Amino acid sequence: MLNDKKILYSGMQATGTLTLGNYLGALKNWVNLNEEYECIYGVMDLHSLTVRQNPAEFRKNARSLYALYVAAGLNPEKNCIYYQSHVPGHAQLSWILGCFTYMGELNRMTQFKDKSAKHTDNINAGLYTYPVLMAADILLYQADVVPVGQDQKQHLEITRDIAQRFNAVYGEVFTVPKAYIPKAGAKIMSLADPQKKMSKSEENPNASIWLMDDRDSIIRKFKRAVTDSDTVVRYAKEKPGISNLMDIYSCVTGKNYDEIEKEFKGKGYGDFKLAVGEAVADELAPLQKRYTELMADKTYIESMIKMNDEKAAFYAAKTLRKVHKKVGLTEMIK
Ligand code: TYM
Repeated sequence: MLNDKKILYSGMQATGTLTLGNYLGALKNWVNLNEEYECIYGVMDLHSLTVRQNPAEFRKNARSLYALYVAAGLNPEKNCIYYQSHVPGHAQLSWILGCFTYMGELNRMTQFKDKSAKHTDNINAGLYTYPVLMAADILLYQADVVPVGQDQKQHLEITRDIAQRFNAVYGEVFTVPKAYIPKAGAKIMSLADPQKKMSKSEENPNASIWLMDDRDSIIRKFKRAVTDSDTVVRYAKEKPGISNLMDIYSCVTGKNYDEIEKEFKGKGYGDFKLAVGEAVADELAPLQKRYTELMADKTYIESMIKMNDEKAAFYAAKTLRKVHKKVGLTEMIK
């Protein structure tokens, strides 16, 4: 690429509003790793089509996701932040990689199993081949590292398998990427049911923190968070509610579990929940302010999208040319 730095690639689906889970499991780490790598972030709008979208709302969500990446601290003048659907190489490479992926592998994907159980009326082929498109996203940019939450680990594993299989036949075409899964925050759980992942598609308004929630709502939701009947703030498997809150608090304050246990020794759950709510609200306030400013500056965002779409398409075309050549597709005659 442009310099000697290793390449970081990641993205999120352009569906609904982001949750605190998306932020702590992914976005915040993107910002933390930003300086170390040459970074490319996609607004994954093609992936969102596996579920029916209202076109107007979908377009709005994609723009809003773009602005959120920037509001969180990713500078679009230094990082390539672009729309997946604006770079045709994703769909092209996805087709080729699909011919190097076994149905047995796709059958084992837990997200496919979960999502098809949830959307029984629309178990489409896109839902099934979703991991192949994700592998194409990553391999197209020769990514070294992919920061994601725990739920994407299996998709990273299949990406590595596809890359290795392809390389075994054609030589070192693809960089084999590594997942970066944070120690704390990789799986933020629902505030209403700590056995369930905090999710965008959650219907209970108290279960998820949305990145645009106001301070009072954030604090109220944390106060109501389901915990156990004990009173000691301690990280333990049998205390999933409190452990989840400790995870969140650790991500936003940088304190480890020991430090948190000491800080709340002798205090009750009430004090702890309030502290978590306040810390999260403080963390999100600057992002929310910046987001509102950015959404009002259409010209700036559009110029950034245009510039970065072109950059991404340039990188993508390079890999795609190499792949075409290796598999024996003939070049277009100019
Ligand atoms: P998506 O849009 O479902 O989620 C975006 C990111 O947020 C993480 N995440 C969580 N982390 C911690 N706790 C949670 N409760 C939580 N919920 C979500 C996800 O792990 C993810 O990192 N398939 C991807 C999007 C994608 C992608 C890619 C990612 C498409 N192509 C290429 C990386 C590289 C997805 O659906 O993420």
